[in-house]
Order: sequence, then C-alpha cells, then structure tokens
Amino acid sequence: MSLSIQNLHVTADDKDILKGVNLEVSKGKVVVIMGPNGSGKSTLANTLAGHPTYHVTQGTILLDNEDITSAKPDLRAKKGMFLSMQYPPGIDGVTVANFLRLAVNAQRGETQNPLHVHALLVEKMKELNIDESFLTRYVNVGMSGGEKKRLEILQMSVLEPTYAILDETDSGLDVDALRIVSEGINRFRSDKTGVLLITHYNRILEYVTPDEIHIMVDGKIVKSGGAELAIEIEKVGYDALKNI
Ligand SMILES: Nc1ncnc2c1ncn2[C@@H]1O[C@H](COP(=O)(O)OP(=O)(O)OP(=O)(O)O)[C@@H](O)[C@H]1O
Ligand SMILES: [Mg+2]
Repeated sequence: MSLSIQNLHVTADDKDILKGVNLEVSKGKVVVIMGPNGSGKSTLANTLAGHPTYHVTQGTILLDNEDITSAKPDLRAKKGMFLSMQYPPGIDGVTVANFLRLAVNAQRGETQNPLHVHALLVEKMKELNIDESFLTRYVNVGMSGGEKKRLEILQMSVLEPTYAILDETDSGLDVDALRIVSEGINRFRSDKTGVLLITHYNRILEYVTPDEIHIMVDGKIVKSGGAELAIEIEKVGYDALKNI
C-alpha cells in the first residue's frame, strides 16, 4: 500500500513546474524531499492535496492503488491524506476546538457527537502535552510559529490520516517548533502510516530518521538515497546536483 506518484507534470499560470516526478511513499516509511528554493517541493505538496491552482498535465497519483489525480481535496482527505501548509492562513473568530471539530466531521462525512469529539481532542492534547486552554484560541491568529506547529500536529493526530504530507520550512522554525513537529512525526510513525516530509535543510533530520531522501531540483528528483544523503548535501550544497 502506498501513495504513488508517477511521471507527474504540473503547471501553474502556464509555467511548467514539475517535470516528471516519480515517487513512492509506502506505509511504514518516512520519505523526505529536500531541494533548493523554488525547486517545486511545495508545488508537489499542493498538487497532492488537490489545490486548484496546480494543473496536472501528465502523470498519475495513486492512493492505495486508486487514481486520485483529479479527485477533489475533501475526497482526498476522506481517503486518508493530510496536508500541512507551509504558510497556514489565520482564521479569525474560529476557535481551535471548532476548527478541529469541523475537520473531524468533514473527514468522517457526518456530524459527530460534539462531546465525543471534545473527548478525542482532550485525549490527543494530553498525549502531546498541549494545555487545554489552546482549544479556545483562534486558529493561527496571533499564534507563534511553535503554536502553529502544535496545531498542525494536533490536527494530524486527531484526524489519524494514512498519509501525511508535511511541508516544513525549517528556516522559520525555532528549536521548540522543530521539536514539536519531530515528536509529532515520530509518534505518528507506524506500519500503517506513510509520511512525506518536505524540508530545506537537514536540521529536522537530527530528530527524525528518514527511510529515504530524495533531492528535487528544477521540478525533478535528481538524486535519491538514505539518511546519509542529507549529510552529503550539507557538505556539497545543492549546486553540485544542478547539472545532473
Ligand atoms: N501559483 C503559482 N503560479 C505561478 N508560479 C508558481 C506558482 N506556485 C509556484 N510557482 C513557481 O514554481 C516554482 C516552484 O515553487 P515552489 O513553491 O513549489 O518551490 P519550493 O521548492 O517549495 O520552494 P521553497 O523552498 O522556497 O519553499 C517557483 O519558481 C515558483 O515561483
Ligand atoms: Mg515550499
């Protein structure tokens, strides 16, 4: 079982961004994509989520053998995909509790008993060491980077997706936020879940040991390997890979 990306070509605004990406995220694996600014990492994440700005012109996305290349975002979520956003928008007036309740209802396709959802939220927050007062905060409004990440990880653990796609710019993450995300991933890791972790630097990889690393340059995967690849990149930089 896997999230399988085959020969994916994607355009936005008539610009070719992804130029034939092949990638397999199997259950039980943490797969990392690294690459320089503008190489297409977020485009891949957004395309996997079904963002309407990004057009698949060739290729296929299979979720556990089912073709979801043109499926609507909510259907993808129902089928077990979770996507974090590099720059999550704030939603004024919507509390974390309401936001998560709506997310659970949307994912399960019917309104859940609010008391059951509340109990689920409290249980997950305990596991993640998040104070209950967090539930009455407004979504991402006036939240620190670390708090936004806490919300993202809480959302992931409440929705219990099969495949999580996490787009992290470590550059904006302080040590606390990095730790929250890493602990969340490590807790989420199991033989029933697959993680696609997108990152710039290998800082996060000090906390999360990946099964595979793929380097994306100019809309293509140019090199693949194990955890050691991050160390190599740290030494030689991405420029050395640009002419491959
Ligand atoms: N909606 C869009 N319309 C036009 N061009 C876009 C759009 N989204 C992304 N691009 C372009 O596609 C290229 C890849 O962008 P993308 O955001 O996927 O890169 P990235 O690898 O995530 O970069 P970063 O490391 O800075 O997050 C860039 O040149 C970007 O300007
Ligand atoms: Mg990006």
